[in-house]
Amino acid sequence: MALFNEILKDGESLFRDTVVLDYDYQPKIIPFREVEQKQFAIAIKPLLQGHNGRNLFVYGAPGIGKTTACKNVIRELEEETEEVIPLYVNCWKENTTFKVFYKICELLGYKFIISKKTSELFEMIRDKINKKAAVFIFDEIDKLEEMDFLYTILEDIYRKSIILITNYRDSYTEMDERIRSRLGTEFLCFRPYNEFEINGILKQRRDYAFVSNCWDDEAFKEISEKCTEINDVRIGLYLMREAGNIAEEKSSRRIEVSHVAEAIRKVEEFHIKPKDGLDEEMQMLLSLIKEQTGKKIGEIYYVYAEKGGDMSYKSFYRRITKLEEGKFIRMEKTAGKEGNSTLLHYQANKKLTEY
Ligand SMILES: Nc1ncnc2c1ncn2[C@@H]1O[C@H](COP(=O)(O)OP(=O)(O)O)[C@@H](O)[C@H]1O
Ligand SMILES: [Mg+2]
Repeated sequence: MALFNEILKDGESLFRDTVVLDYDYQPKIIPFREVEQKQFAIAIKPLLQGHNGRNLFVYGAPGIGKTTACKNVIRELEEETEEVIPLYVNCWKENTTFKVFYKICELLGYKFIISKKTSELFEMIRDKINKKAAVFIFDEIDKLEEMDFLYTILEDIYRKSIILITNYRDSYTEMDERIRSRLGTEFLCFRPYNEFEINGILKQRRDYAFVSNCWDDEAFKEISEKCTEINDVRIGLYLMREAGNIAEEKSSRRIEVSHVAEAIRKVEEFHIKPKDGLDEEMQMLLSLIKEQTGKKIGEIYYVYAEKGGDMSYKSFYRRITKLEEGKFIRMEKTAGKEGNSTLLHYQANKKLTEY
């Protein structure tokens, strides 16, 4: 009976390969980012010709292919030459000069470096790289606690391209002037994808991740729409995986609109901590606002300073506006007798779909 064809048998799965749904899976083809990849290549190219490379400051919203596009260029570079060494560092993990140099030494294949000091690590890096050329990629630079390493690299490495990647355009102005002037970077903005592009990217992943013909067209379209609305490919990948799991739990052979609706509901119900969203400092500010919710911004800054916070009011304010942009808090402007003021409200239940 046809009815039984709709039901998943024991041990049968809708998934063919879930690895391709992982956020850090590196696809072989990166469509819709040709222009950006070209920009990376243009910055690196002089190194292949024995000259110094250019530096790039790359920015754009989370989940729109900055890391992926850059890594793809690096992969092609590795296929092309051994004379230019690519060094990718995620500054979320390596957030101090020591950790950055330590990581680079590891990437360069140095062993027995545990007891080395920062300056010794850098000497080893310099010795090796100055015989060739290097592309330094520092991803998520907004998570850095210090940037001295950039200064050191700028001064003492001869042939290099430095690529800085961040979700925040502001990270540039937050950099030390002496670093900025030496970097002389060009800017590369990643614009958001449109629906056609999101649809194409998700389809590519879907066709590898799932067995053929298990997706209802309408169901897939809803994921694509939701993902476009939020403008973060990761959400689309997450929803596809969730919807697949829900369909499997119900022993359904097809992934239907109802499964997608449940997946979307599920992520909306939970307070999902945005993975790349907030660093420690922002989390700390957020919990302070939670504690002091409804009070004036000036009062909250006062409490912050009382507790030993050492940010200037200007930096504090900038971070508060970032929290508002991320919808973690709400800023309410009021006009009272004593003049205008801004109240800060904590927003409970930040939803995944509100990114
Ligand atoms: N053009 C694209 N082609 C294929 N996959 C993409 C593309 N853009 C983004 N992705 C996928 O979306 C996810 C998020 O991309 P990522 O490069 O990590 O974003 P960002 O660094 O901008 O936060 C990754 O899983 C990546 O593979
Ligand atoms: Mg990234």
